[in-house]
Amino acid sequence: CGIVGYTGGKQAYPILIDGLKKLEYRGYDSAGVALLQNKGVSVFKKEGKVAKLEEHVGVSDVASHTGIGHTRWATHGEPSDRNAHPHLSKSGRIAMIHNGIIENYAQLKNELLKDGYEFKSDTDSEVLLNFIEDIQIKNECSLEEAIRIALKRVTGAYVILLIDQAHPDTIIAARKGSPLVIGIGQNEHFLGSDASPMLAHTKEVVYINDYELAIVKPDELILKNLGNEVITPFVQKLDLELAAIEKNGYDHFMLKEIFEQPQTIFDSLRGRMDAQKNQITLSGIDAIADKIQSARRIIIVACGTSWHAALVAEYVIEELCRINVEVEYASEFRYRNPIISNEDVIIAVSQSGETADTLVALENAKQQGATIYGLVNVVGSSIARLSDAGSYTHAGPEIGVASTKAYTAQLAVLQLIALKIAKIKGTIDDQKFTYFIQQLDAVPEKVQWILDNQVEEIKRIAKKYADANDVLYLGRGYNFPTALEGALKLKEISYIHAEGYPAAEMKHGPIALVDETLPVIFVATKDSYHEKIVSNIQEIKARKGKIIAIVSEGDQRVGDLADDLMVVPSCDEVIAPLLAAIPLQLLAYYIGVERGLDVDQPRNLAKSVTVE
Ligand code: G6P
Repeated sequence: CGIVGYTGGKQAYPILIDGLKKLEYRGYDSAGVALLQNKGVSVFKKEGKVAKLEEHVGVSDVASHTGIGHTRWATHGEPSDRNAHPHLSKSGRIAMIHNGIIENYAQLKNELLKDGYEFKSDTDSEVLLNFIEDIQIKNECSLEEAIRIALKRVTGAYVILLIDQAHPDTIIAARKGSPLVIGIGQNEHFLGSDASPMLAHTKEVVYINDYELAIVKPDELILKNLGNEVITPFVQKLDLELAAIEKNGYDHFMLKEIFEQPQTIFDSLRGRMDAQKNQITLSGIDAIADKIQSARRIIIVACGTSWHAALVAEYVIEELCRINVEVEYASEFRYRNPIISNEDVIIAVSQSGETADTLVALENAKQQGATIYGLVNVVGSSIARLSDAGSYTHAGPEIGVASTKAYTAQLAVLQLIALKIAKIKGTIDDQKFTYFIQQLDAVPEKVQWILDNQVEEIKRIAKKYADANDVLYLGRGYNFPTALEGALKLKEISYIHAEGYPAAEMKHGPIALVDETLPVIFVATKDSYHEKIVSNIQEIKARKGKIIAIVSEGDQRVGDLADDLMVVPSCDEVIAPLLAAIPLQLLAYYIGVERGLDVDQPRNLAKSVTVE
């Protein structure tokens, strides 16, 4: 979900709507705003995207200088007008928006039901709001005090924003586990799940921490902890331009972000490698060098696309550094009681730095003594702040829900991390080290070559297979995760069922699906597994499957076997996933467009999954 707030001298409604549009990538099954008006609190909310909300508001009176807004990704209760936020308390006096999950909501709801409360929605959020109001009435205390008491009883994750008709010009906000940024303007304040809604107005921001409560007025920002002690806000300056979160003439953010990759990969490597001095500078790794020296193993924890980047890193780090690497889905890791000690180094990979499962997995591991290294894209995010050390991926804001440029930036920095660890552990000689630096250095140019030379062919292939019901993606070695990521991209963007598999493993199941209607995509760049994957291609061909192959330039052999080809420049096999990802992103994109779908905001998905 995305949340926004404004209080100041300007009209709140247009600022909230614009902010919600900037945050829409975080959730888009319903949207709403609540405004403090002379007549009291007014709520407007609607199922669907922000544009639907605007239609619904129409010419209604929205004059107001203080308001809050929400774009929802449903957890409790189907997407509908009544489940949309903001919610109004029983008295109609207080409106609240919530991002997160209240885990013990059923218990709180029962208590309120016993007291005769009736609920207008199926959400856990409305329960929390009325729980707060109930405390306020029973204890005859301030709203702020009631929120503090309520939050001490709540389990789960939340960021909440409340407005109360008894407190003109004031927004009260609190967070635990879900992100909240407050922007500071001239006698005005902006609130958001991230900085994008306030970027047009201010670059001075405060990131709110867990268990903090903010009382926000136009000319005043008071931060307190749940014990009612005042905290001094730490104001930071944003290093982000508005253009970075706009489409700049591209049809979709996803396409823009795919095309940005020569630059973003360059940015992720910039200043971090020096072929002359044969050195890699990653201050985060330096900070934990002794831990790495003595580490028993490295565990990489992630979700979704970031998990695929982690899988590539497992192969690379084990190869170059001769240290045991395990890759874990954060959601499994956090619940399965893993054996962790202070001899473990955990690398968290996350674009948003807010994914709830990853965050909690790290908190648990940290408590058990592990050292946490965060590889995160969003500066100042929760995972970045929780980590003992880390590196940013420097891909810039990623708005398309399906990750593209953040993925390749993760791969690039993970390569640097592997090389740096290899140097620390003495498992790589100078010559090999220089060779890999040169290989990485050439990646942005090679990605540019793919974008300059392959797009038309990929569009043609996309048209040809846009009606497929299923697609199988196969790869081996370093490109096995590429096959998984290719399949995920297609699923997300086109809603075509797709599966990624290790190419040889397909004989143990998926081969049963192969007939003349099944497109099979082979990631078959030149590597030490090449002979093996050529045999796998033959096996599919013998069963009449359609073969689409990603090949290295000049690969005549696979060229002759395949029905369709996507070509990438030659490179070392360790680097290959960085190049092979690009045609698969483009293929998914153009198939999604061909099918007339909303590729930037695919149904049911959210960019930043801040609920478990
Ligand atoms: C969501 C996004 C994916 C992303 C995953 C992990 O599912 O839609 O694109 O890969 O979360 O997110 P993170 O921000 O932790 O990388």
